[in-house]
Amino acid sequence: MFDSSTAPLAEQLLAWYDRHSRDLPWRKKGGQRPDPYHVWLSEVMLQQTTVATVGPYFAKFLGKWPSVRDLAAAELDEVLVAWAGLGYYARARNLHKCAKAVVERHDGVFPDTEEGLLDLPGIGAYTAAAVAAIAFDRPAAVMDGNIERVVSRLFAHEEPLPAAKPALKAMVAQITPHKRPGDFAQAMMDLGASLCSPRKPACGLCPWRPQCRAQSLGIAETLPRKMPKAERPVRHAVAFWTVNDDGAVLLRRRPEKGLLGGMMEIPSTEWRGEPWSFAEAKPFVPASADWRLLPDLVSHTFTHFHLQIAVAVGRTRDRRPTGLWVLPSDFGGQALPTVMKKIVRHAMTGWK
Ligand code: ADE
Repeated sequence: MFDSSTAPLAEQLLAWYDRHSRDLPWRKKGGQRPDPYHVWLSEVMLQQTTVATVGPYFAKFLGKWPSVRDLAAAELDEVLVAWAGLGYYARARNLHKCAKAVVERHDGVFPDTEEGLLDLPGIGAYTAAAVAAIAFDRPAAVMDGNIERVVSRLFAHEEPLPAAKPALKAMVAQITPHKRPGDFAQAMMDLGASLCSPRKPACGLCPWRPQCRAQSLGIAETLPRKMPKAERPVRHAVAFWTVNDDGAVLLRRRPEKGLLGGMMEIPSTEWRGEPWSFAEAKPFVPASADWRLLPDLVSHTFTHFHLQIAVAVGRTRDRRPTGLWVLPSDFGGQALPTVMKKIVRHAMTGWK
């Protein structure tokens, strides 16, 4: 709950935001209300992804689908193709599902409360709070990594993350004003992205310097504390770059559920804890061919593990494999995630 004794905090931060807010494509200037569709689209894209990466994708999506109705009417695969490279592909499937629900259940108009938004598929606590605050000026407590850092310093909260999350959220609720809550949330994001940086905070320029407990205790750069993360394990795979007489390459669609769900892939072995010998990988070959293993491995890091991929290349006349034969020059039209693009690059440079 907002505590009026903290009102000066909000005022100081908003005054700073009015001078220093970042000029971002999904923001409106001069107190205009942003379009809820734009706010929702940008907030979904910005989870786990930087502002710099999101910019061109945001523009591309609005160019293709100017309204939520347009997005709802798109084919899922078109959305996956446009999303390719942004990562966390469940977000793209949920984005499409959510657009359909807004059209079917709400006649194309986004609900204007946190609860109404939470009821939509693919909208979690973060997105519901962010959209309610930014698009509808609801005093929702928006929490993301930048805001956690800012507030843990402001109150010198030393409990480590992730256990500290509920306490930090209560602090944000306490200081979120009823006037301009969306700007307040974005001001905290901007403060976290600029002055209140993880390693070298520029406390001398901060509008909250006088009240910041961590700054007065001299511990700002040590917060937030974090529980040590488990090391990411390494998994191993062999991918098969299978080329037919036309020069087309075999692609497959991944199952809807799970990692990279619904995206296209270069067929591969299972991804397992031990490296593969080629003999072990043999049962996974998609076609009979004169297989040759390329030197060097492709590496890619997912949230929970590293993947190391050996790439086997082979020319085949085998007509049996099921999947899609696509010329590499046409790969732009395929929903290929970044890890698969790395395999493509490796195979194309090694294939001779
Ligand atoms: N990160 C997530 N949402 C953001 C927003 N609205 N502005 C800046 N950074 C963000």
